[in-house]
Amino acid sequence: MIRASVLFVGSLAAILMSFVALSVFPAVQLMEIEPTEGRIDYNFAESQGRQVYMREGCIYCHTQQVRPDGFGNDIGRGWGTRGSEPGDYVFDFPHLLGTMRTGPDLADIGQRQPSRDWHLSHFYNPRSVSEGSLMPSYPYLFEIKSEAEVLASDVVVNVPEAFAPDEGVIVAKEDVLNLYAYLMTLKQDPTN
Ligand code: HEC
Repeated sequence: MIRASVLFVGSLAAILMSFVALSVFPAVQLMEIEPTEGRIDYNFAESQGRQVYMREGCIYCHTQQVRPDGFGNDIGRGWGTRGSEPGDYVFDFPHLLGTMRTGPDLADIGQRQPSRDWHLSHFYNPRSVSEGSLMPSYPYLFEIKSEAEVLASDVVVNVPEAFAPDEGVIVAKEDVLNLYAYLMTLKQDPTN
């Protein structure tokens, strides 16, 4: 009997210790993480854009994590100026770190490429701004309107003639404008 109770208390202690070490301790550690300087929570448009990023599977080809020097040449490639830190992700549920790098890392894309025209043309057809790109086009994030239908509030996208529709103009839908707003939050130095 004595042995049985020792076994019971011993197993209970083992379970309790692993719970503290694997659940409580990491949770407490994560509570202490402060956002990177200047990083604020997503506004409505940005968080909607984040949903579009998840829905369209951008994560299958893009990472959002810059490795520090000594762990790869991410900084040499111009993907950031420092290694990514926990404070870069405090508002991300779930995080979108990604594992595949078919395309460039996007952790600092808001700094590297701020142009809205560039991004919209790129989403409409990546080949229109990046020759030979194998990124998919997202034409359904845009609509084709006749000149007469275009409203003053519409965001019209200009692409080189070879990529333009036969008739009408390309107008960005809300989803792609939100996606752009989200990409602009991806900056290693949000105060910039
Ligand atoms: C099948 C893989 C694939 C998918 C899916 C994909 N991309 Fe890309 N992406 C690429 C490749 C390859 C490039 C590099 C060539 C280029 O600029 O188009 C790229 C380039 C980019 C760039 C420019 C990066 C730079 O440094 O100039 C951005 C921004 C981008 N992708 C965003 C997205 C977003 C947002 C989505 C989801 C809507 C997405 N990508 C989906 C493969 C992909």
